[in-house]
Amino acid sequence: MNTRTRRSGIAVAAGSLTLLLTACGALGAAGDASQASPTKGNDITVGLLLPEKANTRYDKFDHPIIKAKVASLTKDEGKVEYANADASAKTQAAQLQRMIDDQVDVILLDAVDAHAIADGVRKAKDAGIPVIAYDRLAEGPIDAYISFDNELVGEVQGRSLVDALGSDIDTSDKVVMMNGSLTDPNAKQFKAGALSELEGKVTIAKSYDTVEWKPENAEANMEKAIGAIGADNIAAVLSANDGMAGGIIKALRSAGVTDLPPITGQDAELEAVQRILSGEQYMSVYKSYPQEAEAAAEMAVAKVQGKDIQFDALASDRVDSPTTKDIPAQLVPVVALTKSNIKSTVVEDGIYKVSDICTGKYESACVAAKLK
Ligand code: GAL
Repeated sequence: MNTRTRRSGIAVAAGSLTLLLTACGALGAAGDASQASPTKGNDITVGLLLPEKANTRYDKFDHPIIKAKVASLTKDEGKVEYANADASAKTQAAQLQRMIDDQVDVILLDAVDAHAIADGVRKAKDAGIPVIAYDRLAEGPIDAYISFDNELVGEVQGRSLVDALGSDIDTSDKVVMMNGSLTDPNAKQFKAGALSELEGKVTIAKSYDTVEWKPENAEANMEKAIGAIGADNIAAVLSANDGMAGGIIKALRSAGVTDLPPITGQDAELEAVQRILSGEQYMSVYKSYPQEAEAAAEMAVAKVQGKDIQFDALASDRVDSPTTKDIPAQLVPVVALTKSNIKSTVVEDGIYKVSDICTGKYESACVAAKLK
């Protein structure tokens, strides 16, 4: 399954690259004269609003990658104005307003609360600032959307648990589902994808929506699940991301579980990769942050500079949000990350060095997994 997912990922990536090159060629041939959008040069400011800090991806990957890409696309003249909302929808609304006041040229918005931010999106629009929804589909009149295939994320998690339970899987096997935050539209898609693989094969004994995606909230919910089901009766845990998997493992260990059930994750966080190596966590979902973040930067710059053909090629899919239909979009594929493909994913993509992963107590597991 891993190979198949990865291969199709490469196929899609190569496909969009071809499209992009063709589009650039077309743009060069036609010249820049026919563009309807207002065009700007390289001296532009991209506003970047990211949702939280508990998950390491945002400060560690999304922000620096977007910043570097905007610089390289604008001969180092373009800037990124960055704000992280630390999981507060109120903070994010104020940050968005500040970017409107600062008259940034375009906004990349990863919403804390996709519904609540719609007013702010409209204000930006009224001020003539295009808004591109980043990773999470914000409501309101957005110009485009770039994300991963979020339904596929859940499917990959669900399928992995079914694989882990093996041939003696039984409909009476009790699975706990630890879903993400209700304010994050991705969480709904992760859940739907996972359920499509699990329903009819196992029993979903308990299911929680985790406030603000916080690991400590997942830990508290897991304690409740253990109390209701009994630690030894839990066959597997579908955790929507890695941070929460950490909280779930803590709760299971405190309840005296030594032989952990298969537990999923998402985001390929460093600690999760180490837990996968040591066998504490079954899998994670690796999402290529460079692919998503660089495409977002390209979309933002193309939008501001009025490169319509290039922009259309970058957003050739279409999605609907609860408020807006036919939003131009790009959906990047994902890969299941297990012990067997750590090297061909996060290491080969330069996300982590072997020396980051194989520290102290993980050294022997690294040798066994042929990482060292
Ligand atoms: C999702 C995002 C995931 C993870 C999660 C929890 O929206 O796609 O990568 O970050 O939020 O923060």
